Amino acid sequence: MSYFITTPIYYVNDAPHIGHAYTTIACDIVSRYNKIDDDDTFFLTGTDEHGQKVEKAALMQKKNPQDFVNEMSKNFRDLIPFLGCEINDFIRTTEQRHINAAQALWKKLDENNQIYLSNYEGWYSVRDEAFYQESELQKIDGKFFTEDGSPVEWIKEESYFFKLSEWQDKLIEYYEQYQRPIYPETRYNEVLSFVKGGLKDLSISRTTFRWGVPVPNNKNHVMYVWIDALCNYLTAIGYPDTNNSNFKKYWPGVHVVGKDILRFHAVYWPAFLMAADLEPPKKIFAHGWWTNEGQKISKSLGNVIDPYEIINEYGLDQIRYFLFREVPFGKDGNFSKQSIATRVNADLSNTYGNLIQRICTFVVKNCESKIMPSNNLTEEDKALEEAIESSVISYRYNMGEMNLDSSLKGIMVLLNEANAYVDSQAPWKLKTTDPDRMKVVLYMVLNIIIKSSIMLYPFIPQSAEKALSYFNISKDKISFNNFSLLIKNEIKINNPEPLFPRFEL
Ligand code: MSP
Repeated sequence: MSYFITTPIYYVNDAPHIGHAYTTIACDIVSRYNKIDDDDTFFLTGTDEHGQKVEKAALMQKKNPQDFVNEMSKNFRDLIPFLGCEINDFIRTTEQRHINAAQALWKKLDENNQIYLSNYEGWYSVRDEAFYQESELQKIDGKFFTEDGSPVEWIKEESYFFKLSEWQDKLIEYYEQYQRPIYPETRYNEVLSFVKGGLKDLSISRTTFRWGVPVPNNKNHVMYVWIDALCNYLTAIGYPDTNNSNFKKYWPGVHVVGKDILRFHAVYWPAFLMAADLEPPKKIFAHGWWTNEGQKISKSLGNVIDPYEIINEYGLDQIRYFLFREVPFGKDGNFSKQSIATRVNADLSNTYGNLIQRICTFVVKNCESKIMPSNNLTEEDKALEEAIESSVISYRYNMGEMNLDSSLKGIMVLLNEANAYVDSQAPWKLKTTDPDRMKVVLYMVLNIIIKSSIMLYPFIPQSAEKALSYFNISKDKISFNNFSLLIKNEIKINNPEPLFPRFEL
């Protein structure tokens, strides 16, 4: 199977922060999961470099927009390996391949009679790069603002329009046919009621600034930054050549986005695609927003979380784990240092790391560093084996649905069972009373540790790889294909090092 997963492309008006890191890591987790499931996976991210917001930011710094975006895009590019993410392509909307693709998409829409020239008059938020109806705004001290507090300005200019109003029925059909492609369900319902409420044609070009992809055949217009940006997903797999092997293999893709940009992805984007005779997205997952110690993250409040700082302080896998265990994917979450330390100590240090440490050390010391598989299982062992099987099944279901927190919770439940089993079986006592039984018990626990490490791998790749190396399982063996084979033969064990030192609370 092939799988194409994308992050939104990030605006380069400012430095990357924890919100950007969150989306990229989410996609890395799903991409790694699919890769170890032997799917042919393509993971795309990149930067959104056109539009008024970016142009303004360049002007503020008295820089030429191209030099400015080159510099800023690099910050996002460099962050990826630091986040432990393995991508397949990084796209920039100022690249020629993208300009060609965006113009080709425009021409196709035009050919299909989906675009017309008229005048736009209404509210626009540069911060959101979005048009607003007055009914969506609030008036404070005589000025209008969006619900999230973005200022808006009144614009009046000649503009091309996309005939979005004609796509209402087709969009509803798409949602039904693709069996609710929008997750989570609450967001799906919001999108559906928005579409059912009726759609207005969408302004898709601007004339009052130049920093954008030129509209084919009319030099006075640049494309509205959202049609330009959304097209990146097509560019990266070779559009407009829809016969190339990547396009055939990977389209349609799965888009992961923040809740704030769901409408662009779940309404405008599928409509553009269908209007250009292309298949709409396979799935769209909308995640929630992070606050910092209860407050909205914003530059003006000075509480932006720098991914470099937080990862240097707590560790990469610790932060990756925290972000996806702490909050159900799709819900808003609150970032606090206290919660990171508490969560990491409880789950990664005590439940997972400590179990590995004590079992491996015990086997090295008392069993010549190796354990043979055993069939001599008691009823209790068999029940534990069943618990392992069902835990793997529900993990895989949850990963497919992007219920990332539930996947992690399930692994921790299993590891807690393993810890309770060790305590009740007390292998240190069996050492003298029943050494054969002791080996069966250790085998059972190793089975859980190895399988849990593989399930944890997409979330905490460096630590899981390290843990698996204690059992002489190398990275290329991390797969669901040979999952059971890994524990079919003698398991040789190396002396472990502590994986997750505890944080002082
Ligand atoms: N450029 C557009 C996307 C175009 S995709 C064709 C854009 N860029 S952005 O840089 O403003 O935001 C990118 C992503 O970061 C969005 O999905 C947004 O939800 C996410 N986040 C920004 N701040 C966030 C938090 N505080 N918390 C979680 N995610 C947040 O929108």
